[in-house]
Amino acid sequence: MARRSLLVGFGGFLPDRVVTNDELAARLETSDEWIKTRTGITRRHIAGPQDTATSMGAAAARKALEYAGLTAADIDAVIVGTSTPDQAFPATAVRIQAELGMAQGFAFDIAAACSGFIFALATADSFIRSGQARNVLVIGSEVYSRIVDWSDRGTCVLFGDGAGAVVLSGTDEAGKAGLLSTHLHSDGTAGDLLYVDGAVGRRDMSGHLKMSGRDVFRHAVAKLSSSVDEALEAEGLSYSDVSWLVPHQANIRIIEGVGKKLGLPPERVVVTVDRHANTSAASIPLALDEAVRDGRIKKGDLVLMEALGGGLTWGSALARL
Ligand code: ACO
Repeated sequence: MARRSLLVGFGGFLPDRVVTNDELAARLETSDEWIKTRTGITRRHIAGPQDTATSMGAAAARKALEYAGLTAADIDAVIVGTSTPDQAFPATAVRIQAELGMAQGFAFDIAAACSGFIFALATADSFIRSGQARNVLVIGSEVYSRIVDWSDRGTCVLFGDGAGAVVLSGTDEAGKAGLLSTHLHSDGTAGDLLYVDGAVGRRDMSGHLKMSGRDVFRHAVAKLSSSVDEALEAEGLSYSDVSWLVPHQANIRIIEGVGKKLGLPPERVVVTVDRHANTSAASIPLALDEAVRDGRIKKGDLVLMEALGGGLTWGSALARL
């Protein structure tokens, strides 16, 4: 029996401060109606001065460890998907490792924008399958409120802050549960459709998120659809086998488009974008955490995850809980 990764722990963290569309409309030329109709978003959580990718990621990780019945001493690796690290280095993952009191194992970040969690999940799964790690914390943690241009109504209304975490644990035992497959893609030629113009290596730029919304929307629907097909084909499964779609939460219209393609009724699609907005790499683990804890996703369910983000990067993952 080949080794595979079980999803054994789930955790999430959202900052206390909630900002409604009406609050944004009080300082920008926008409206609750415009934002809701175009995106499905009604509110988002925004980081306070004390919240960082490290602090939020560590909080989500603690909850995931507790859910799994493990402690930090059991963890061999921490992999964090983030585009909003506290520092250029050390990696957010290393800072989280320290917050958790872990001196063992290894930790590093993955920069794949909104697809960061899928890329981190695939990487963790490879370490587990190759025998280099047994228990891995996979985290998405983001503070986009610090990289959006708060005067640009076309982008700032779309994002929120938060963190989500999953514990992957290797097993050699026979069984159907676990991460079945992951599928990753990127296309750098579309890099200018969604990017942040600046970083510590380019201080001459503003460091704000820029986006060609319509083009990203078009790519999202096409690439996410082919990505879910790819995942199901790889496992010889069909749309009707999927219990839950847990998509990256960017826009309700993109989510509904993919759900419709799968023939999944809306009640089989986990949606948090209405309350969280787009939390980039944190959105899938936050949605997973919510749906597992409220009992919607149960043991044995087949869960399909997909994401697309700046890069462009995109991918999917299929797991049986
Ligand atoms: N409030 C009011 N009006 C607005 C706002 C706003 N917040 N933002 C833009 N507008 C205006 C524009 O200025 C434009 O006005 P004009 O016609 O007078 O020029 C009009 O609304 C239409 O603008 P579009 O950008 O064409 O609107 P569209 O219908 O494409 O919706 C949106 C914009 C919601 C950004 C959409 O393109 C989208 O969701 N794209 C996907 C992008 C995305 O989700 N990115 C997240 C990261 S990638 C990912 O996670 C998948």
